[in-house]
Amino acid sequence: MDVSIRTPRLTLRQPLLDDAARVARFLDNFAVSGNLARVPYPYRLSDAKAWLRTWRPDRPASETAFMIDLEGEGAIGNVGFHRDIEGTVLGYWLAQPFWNRGLMSEAVRAAVDWYFENTAAMSVGSGVFHFNKASLAIQKKMGFAEIGTSMRLCLARGEEVRHIDTELTRAAWLAHRPVAQESTK
Ligand SMILES: CC(C)(COP(=O)(O)OP(=O)(O)OC[C@H]1O[C@@H](n2cnc3c(N)ncnc32)[C@H](O)[C@@H]1OP(=O)(O)O)[C@@H](O)C(=O)NCCC(=O)NCCS
Repeated sequence: MDVSIRTPRLTLRQPLLDDAARVARFLDNFAVSGNLARVPYPYRLSDAKAWLRTWRPDRPASETAFMIDLEGEGAIGNVGFHRDIEGTVLGYWLAQPFWNRGLMSEAVRAAVDWYFENTAAMSVGSGVFHFNKASLAIQKKMGFAEIGTSMRLCLARGEEVRHIDTELTRAAWLAHRPVAQESTK
C-alpha cells in the first residue's frame, strides 16, 4: 500500500529507488545483516536496487514495507510486513549510528498500529535470532509473546541459527497500547 505515517520523530513512507545508496551503505554492515534472515553480507548497491525494484505500491497491507525517515537525516531503516508459510511476518532494521535512541520502538509501534487498524488480521508473527536481546525487548514492549523456537537460515552468516519465534495477537496489541493513545480515540 502507498501510505505514509508520521510519528513524533519519524516518517514511515514507501520505499523509492532513490533510497538505494543509503540502504546499501547501512545494510553493508554485519552488525545489522547478521541479525537478519534474508540480507546477504557483503551487501552491494545492486542488492539494494534489486530489492527496491520489487516494491509495488499496490500490494496488500500484509506485504507493505516502509522506509523510516528521520527528520533532517533521511532514510535510516526499514520496517514492514511480508508473507511466509506461517502468515504475515513483521521485520525491521535500523542503521547502526541511530541505535539506542528508541527510534525502532517508535517505528515498530507505528507500523503495528497501522497494520491492525487497517486489516482484520487477528495476529502477526515475528521473532529474533536468539542473541538479539534489543529486538526481543522491542517486541515484548508491543505485546509479542514467544511461541517457540526454530532454526532459520541467516544469509549473512551463511548458516542456520536458533530463532525465537514470536507472535502478536490483536488482543495483546490492544492490551499493550499506551494509555494516552487510547484516550484520544
Ligand atoms: C534491534 C534494533 C532494531 C534496535 O533498534 P533501536 O532503535 O536501537 O531500539 P530501541 O532503542 O527502540 O529499543 C531497544 C530496546 O532494547 C533494549 N536493549 C538494548 N540492548 C539490550 C540488551 N543487550 N539486552 C536487553 N535489552 C536491550 C533497550 O533498553 C530498549 O528497550 P527499552 O526501550 O525498554 O529501554 C537495531 O539494533 C537493529 O536494527 N539491529 C540490526 C537489525 C535487527 O536486529 N533487526 C531486527 C531483527 S529481529
